[in-house]
Parts: sequence; C-alpha cells; structure tokens
Amino acid sequence: MVIFADTIRPSLPLLNLLAISGSLRAASTNSALVAALARNAPPGCRVTIYDGLGRLPIFNPDEEGERTPQEASALIDAVTHADGVIVSCPEYAHGVPGGLKNGLDWLVSRDAAVDKPAMLVHASPRSLFARAALAEIMRTMSFALYDGGSLEIALLGKKPLEVESILAEPANVLAMRNALSAFADFIRTR
Ligand SMILES: Cc1cc2nc3c(=O)[nH]c(=O)nc-3n(C[C@H](O)[C@H](O)[C@H](O)COP(=O)(O)O)c2cc1C
Repeated sequence: MVIFADTIRPSLPLLNLLAISGSLRAASTNSALVAALARNAPPGCRVTIYDGLGRLPIFNPDEEGERTPQEASALIDAVTHADGVIVSCPEYAHGVPGGLKNGLDWLVSRDAAVDKPAMLVHASPRSLFARAALAEIMRTMSFALYDGGSLEIALLGKKPLEVESILAEPANVLAMRNALSAFADFIRTR
C-alpha cells in the first residue's frame, strides 16, 4: 500500500479571520469584496465579517474602561479573538473614512491590536492616499501589517450585479484564495 505524504499530514488549526469593510453604503464594493473573501476562504481559514462600524458611538477616551459602550466592547472582543484582521476601505477626500477611523480609535488604548496580523485588500485601483494613511495608522497601533502582495480587484463604480459577476470570475476567485492563503502563512509562521 502506498501512503501519500498529504494524507498523513496533520491538518492545521483553523484560523479565524475578521474582515472589516470601511464603507457603510448598502451597495458598497468594499463590503462586496469582504463578503466574497468569506465565501472563498481556503481550507483552514474562516472569514467572519464585522459589520458594526455604523453602530459605534463616536470615540471618547472618557468612555473607556468600565464605561466602554457595549458596541465598542463587541469590536474589541472580535479583534481580540481573531487570528488576523482584513480591511477593505474606500478613500474619502484623500483620507480614511471617519467610521473606520472611529472603530480603530476604540482599539488604540487596548491590547487587541498589538501584534495582531492584519492585511489590507482593495476594491479600487485608486485610493492611494487612504491606503498609505490606513497602513500608517494600523502600524502606529502596533498591528502586524502583512505587506506581501496585496489583493486588488477593481470594482470602483460598478453596479451590484456587475460587482458579483467580477467577483465570481475564476481568476478573481483564485486571487482571493491565494491572498488568504498567503496571509494565513504569514500568521502561522510568525
Ligand atoms: C465623499 C466621498 C469622497 C471621495 N473621495 C475620494 C478620493 O479622495 N479619492 C478616491 O480615489 N475616491 C474617492 N471617492 C470615491 C470612493 O472612494 C469610491 O467610490 C469607493 O469605491 C467607494 O467604496 P464603496 O463602494 O465600498 O462605498 C469618494 C467618495 C465619496 C462618497
């Protein structure tokens, strides 16, 4: 009997990845991208979507500690328990949208972000200011930002049906799986 190496390799523990879209638009292309990542996660990865940015109160350092609002605690817990965080974010006026920055601000004075692997993915070929600003913010917060090849699928200005069709193209499904696998390797080898 021949036993192939693959059949005796122990399976790796499941990685729980938390995906956040920086857009609150119902027809958001960034939200469509994170939803597609969740659908196309490779074996060994589970992608859960955080959709609470729009319910977070405006960050106020006076409301931290025992006064931390329940919605902010939910975000802090979700990041704490994730093995890695994925962010897809539009650019508004050359900056990071306030809703996402507000969510990140709730994480600053905590351990949740410290050394937490994170990957940025992109639904627009533009937004270069926001990409750079977000990377700077997240590095400053001590996220361990994955800077291997980044995933970019051009969905800017597309209507929802077209967005879904682009995300279902085999080349894009493969690109999403490869990006998640590379991020998983980054997490596992740290
Ligand atoms: C208020 C506002 C400001 C914007 N500013 C920029 C910008 O400075 N640079 C850019 O590339 N796109 C800008 N855009 C375009 C958005 O980044 C783009 O439409 C993005 O794909 C929207 O993401 P979503 O589909 O996930 O909502 C802006 C859009 C809005 C609504």
